[in-house]
Amino acid sequence: MNAATVALVPAAGRGERLGGRGPKALVPVHGVPLVVHAVRGLLSAGCVRRVVVAAPLSHVDIMRSVLADAGAEALVVAGGGDRSESVRRALDAALAESADMSPEISVVLVHDAARAFTPPELVRAVTDAVAAGAPAVVPVLPVADTVKRVDANELVTETVSRADLRAVQTPQGFAPDVLRRAYEAGGDEHTDDAGLVERIGVPVSTVPGHPAAMKITTPFDLAVAEAVLAP
Ligand code: CTP
Ligand code: MG
Repeated sequence: MNAATVALVPAAGRGERLGGRGPKALVPVHGVPLVVHAVRGLLSAGCVRRVVVAAPLSHVDIMRSVLADAGAEALVVAGGGDRSESVRRALDAALAESADMSPEISVVLVHDAARAFTPPELVRAVTDAVAAGAPAVVPVLPVADTVKRVDANELVTETVSRADLRAVQTPQGFAPDVLRRAYEAGGDEHTDDAGLVERIGVPVSTVPGHPAAMKITTPFDLAVAEAVLAP
């Protein structure tokens, strides 16, 4: 499909749950920083025209040179204090840069640097679904664990049916105007971009996710990535 696709990569987090060893996006797996794996993965999908990375304000120059040295071409901008502010800044930079580019952007992907080993096929599946007319698309997996609700004392109050629950990954894909309007409308705390889109009443569709698109959050996840995910 011939969609002009831009990928925004929030990479400005501090990686606190990984043990505070500096920005998570710069933590190496097989000697290569996560952000480099993530950008290479997006570019290797073959459908992404431009990648915009949101880096921690203190590490913009470092991330720029790490990516350039690795030959992973990306525009690096300063991220914000939370994930949505980082996405907002990357989106602004992408839209500004592409204002006089042709063809116009038709798909915007938002993809966590922390999901550094997402298969290129998944990037293409999300892009294709948006290019085919879906305004917002998220990759999902069924929930494998039994899910329970607890009260303030951690006592179980309910077992929730997992049949209609899904765990959501990235990249999430959007028609550019939909994501722009969702960010303009804003809202309270949210952990994904599709959440903002739901609030403006735009339907969000799903494609099957992939286990390798797992988010590297904890030292255990990092060990899994070292052992089985790194190319
Ligand atoms: N992120 C970002 N800007 C922030 C916070 C997070 O761009 N201010 C990015 C992270 O770099 C990551 C993605 O959002 O790629 C998902 O966030 P998460 O996994 O929570 O990463 P961190 O915030 O770095 O980790 P932690 O919450 O453990 O500190
Ligand atoms: Mg975080």
